[in-house]
Amino acid sequence: MNAGIIPYPHSTGNPSRGMSFELGGVNFSYPGTQKTSPALKDVSLTIQAGQLIVIVGSNGSGKSTLIRILSRLYDPTSGTVQIDGRPSEEYIVSDLHEATALLSQDNQLYPLSLHENIGLGYPDKVKDIGLVQQAAEQGGAIEFISKLKDGMSTFLEPIIQPFQINLYRNKTHVLYKEMDALRKNIDISGGERQKVVAARSFMRFQSGKIKFVAVDEPSSALDAESELKLFENLIKVRDGKTLVFVTHRFGHLTKYADQIICMKDGSVCEVGSHEELFNKDGEYPKLYKIQASAFTAQ
Ligand SMILES: Nc1ncnc2c1ncn2[C@@H]1O[C@H](COP(=O)(O)OP(=O)(O)OP(=O)(O)O)[C@@H](O)[C@H]1O
Ligand SMILES: [Mg+2]
Repeated sequence: MNAGIIPYPHSTGNPSRGMSFELGGVNFSYPGTQKTSPALKDVSLTIQAGQLIVIVGSNGSGKSTLIRILSRLYDPTSGTVQIDGRPSEEYIVSDLHEATALLSQDNQLYPLSLHENIGLGYPDKVKDIGLVQQAAEQGGAIEFISKLKDGMSTFLEPIIQPFQINLYRNKTHVLYKEMDALRKNIDISGGERQKVVAARSFMRFQSGKIKFVAVDEPSSALDAESELKLFENLIKVRDGKTLVFVTHRFGHLTKYADQIICMKDGSVCEVGSHEELFNKDGEYPKLYKIQASAFTAQ
């Protein structure tokens, strides 16, 4: 990856509205892959600052790869990516990453309290209980957290290993009770983890540095209602940010979308609004009807 020297945001473009992108003839193959066809083929598209984009397409069509190129996790094998009107490789990579919030299926939690797991989205404000609480609400995590005995102070993966010594025989000993409590790991579901990670992203927004939010199916572990709520909460704070969603359940997002990008076999096959694409005989109406039937058919 080329190391640029220009700080982001820069005076070009319109960073106060969000990050903008222009892709020209982008091809991408994963390094070392055995696949003969590239993951992205000749992708050209424009995303304006502050737009809300929904990327749709069947499994393996290149949606996540496109998100990784936009988030500058990878550079294209060939073709150009412009960010705010400049070649993306001219920017300092860490600046771009600092301006990007990527919500994916990766739901990594740290061996810290829930409060810290959320607050670390914006380390300067980790002690601000009100802000962390608000982020927990926006991420949809507050409900399950409030049901935990220790609430926000709960440690999910305790690093303390209790040693039993002679206590295991003496269940009446006062320390036995303490040890027993330490031994119990609190485990939460995949969807609940996802909500904590989402809350951490909302906390990141508080830094005011986020210009691009990429949401790549963070919701696979979420039920339909939680997903809808999460998307609505993201849309509420979209001001000053470009939002790109990848989801197979996109029906409720189409009304907000400035553009729908439909992918097939690594290429963009259709681009437009829901109305523009729905009445054409293409891939999009097919995908739309499939995901809609998943909701209506019982
Ligand atoms: N890390 C990787 N290494 C090698 N090939 C990969 C890697 N990730 C994805 N691919 C391949 O690149 C192509 C595009 O994959 P991508 O993950 O972008 O699809 P997708 O549209 O996000 O699919 P899904 O709906 O299943 O998430 C596929 O052929 C896939 O097998
Ligand atoms: Mg994917």
